Amino acid sequence: MPRNQQDNPYAVIEHAVQKLKAKEYGAREDQDRKTMDEVFDRRAMLAIYKLMTEGLIESIDFPISTGKEANIFRVTSKEDKRFALKIYRTSNATFKRIARYIEADPRFHGITGNRRKVILAWATKEYRNLLRLQKAKVRVPEPIKFYQNLLLMEYIGTEQMPAPMLRNVLLEDPMATYKIILKYIRLAYQKAELVHGDLSEYNILMEEAGPVIIDVGQALTTEHPNADDYLKRDIENINRYFRSLDVKIKTTEEVMIQVKKKREVKKAKGGKK
Ligand SMILES: Nc1ncnc2c1ncn2[C@@H]1O[C@H](COP(=O)(O)OP(=O)(O)O)[C@@H](O)[C@H]1O
Ligand SMILES: [Mg+2]
Repeated sequence: MPRNQQDNPYAVIEHAVQKLKAKEYGAREDQDRKTMDEVFDRRAMLAIYKLMTEGLIESIDFPISTGKEANIFRVTSKEDKRFALKIYRTSNATFKRIARYIEADPRFHGITGNRRKVILAWATKEYRNLLRLQKAKVRVPEPIKFYQNLLLMEYIGTEQMPAPMLRNVLLEDPMATYKIILKYIRLAYQKAELVHGDLSEYNILMEEAGPVIIDVGQALTTEHPNADDYLKRDIENINRYFRSLDVKIKTTEEVMIQVKKKREVKKAKGGKK
């Protein structure tokens, strides 16, 4: 029986990936090709194919970023919506980096050991953290779907390009941005009961409307024994950055106290709207 593209998923996605490789990586280094081959292994391709059959991915438009743990691509859905697709690498190095976070997280007890399982749990974790943060009214990319080591989320940026990192923009009103970020740290802590754990001018994107917090895979619950250390480090990072912009920052201690104050939570629970 002749196989058409429909019943040969591998061929469909292979085609899409080859197109992308030719387009974006044609003239670049071997290293880039190697990374692409690592990201688009057979399993990842089948996972992408699954999202294609659901209409969530129609085309892979361009790579946005190649990080230590994941690659991010801009994709377009069947309905012509833009999304960001984060593909976690399943290599041993990635596994080693993230295993220590997962081990200490009570939500992930019993799944350490198996490399692939740990990485899948990691993608799930970022998805769940995004949901919790969104519910707490922290501006994050809206999570759309996770499947295996893929996370599909709202794309932050314009048609032409992804939104820049905080570190790469000239802020109109740095004080206002500083305050919004502190508010997000507080909402995350009090409402989502999460500490980002890797917050800095690298993991905040700036869209027209303001800052967007990203890269929440490693975020930890406020119950975590080291939560306060990570919270302190997050605040210090933000303070350091805004001090460099000559913003009159609050002391780390002052921010810590405000973030940890439970007043707001109680007020919300009291039913006041
Ligand atoms: N939803 C998104 N929309 C647009 N760009 C994004 C999105 N998520 C991530 N990026 C871009 O990809 C980069 C890496 O993403 P991040 O989640 O921080 O992964 P990493 O673990 O590699 O640091 C970001 O710095 C940002 O430029
Ligand atoms: Mg990052």
